[in-house]
Amino acid sequence: MRDMPCAPAAEHNSQPILEVLRHEFRTVSSVLEVGSGTGQHAVAFAAELVHLEWQTSDLDENHAGIRLWLAHAGLANVRPPLLLDVGTSGMLPLHYDAVFSANTAHIMNLHEVEKMFGLVSSALRSDGVFCLYGPLREGGDFNAVSNAEFDESLRRRDPAMGIRDIEQLDDFASTGAMKRVRRYAMPANNMLVVWRKYRSGERRDDT
Ligand SMILES: C[S@@+](CC[C@H](N)C(=O)[O-])C[C@H]1O[C@@H](n2cnc3c(N)ncnc32)[C@H](O)[C@@H]1O
Repeated sequence: MRDMPCAPAAEHNSQPILEVLRHEFRTVSSVLEVGSGTGQHAVAFAAELVHLEWQTSDLDENHAGIRLWLAHAGLANVRPPLLLDVGTSGMLPLHYDAVFSANTAHIMNLHEVEKMFGLVSSALRSDGVFCLYGPLREGGDFNAVSNAEFDESLRRRDPAMGIRDIEQLDDFASTGAMKRVRRYAMPANNMLVVWRKYRSGERRDDT
């Protein structure tokens, strides 16, 4: 375990996220994770959801840590990290059943968040789902004082960071032919939101 990066938040939130993914990914085979961070989530989820092929990705600076976690876990169903910077990446010519990302939307700037939704759409097969976990605002409001304070601290660190509005993410999703289908309230005032990519020929008001 020595030298392996450790994110305490990822340790704490893995179990509740896993319970949602057990349901959302029950018929899924391939998952792309955007912004895998330390790689702890990938290892925790792939170890339990053995029917999945889990593809990690992140900026180059996190690859060494992700590889350490993957080597330690020795799981056959997790792939070494792709280099994926959503700000600069071209469309992904790949077809995943699902995309997962945790605690990325408030770290990326808004343009990158918008690009992430475009990339997710390009990476998803039709009817595939995008599960995004993290703090979000809804109806213009923070759901807890602690999230308002967290938002302030993010913006002090970098004015381009900040907790995003779920309605704005819905707009980005809609541009990528995706529609919000579920929203789970998670511990510590986080949310896990699920958007589904339309099937080809599906009318947008059909769902
Ligand atoms: C707060 S960490 C979350 C890491 C991990 N998902 C977790 O929940 O523990 C934010 C992650 O977003 C990644 N990230 C930031 N900007 C990015 C970008 N432009 N493209 C892809 N990943 C990015 C960071 O490298 C980092 O891994």
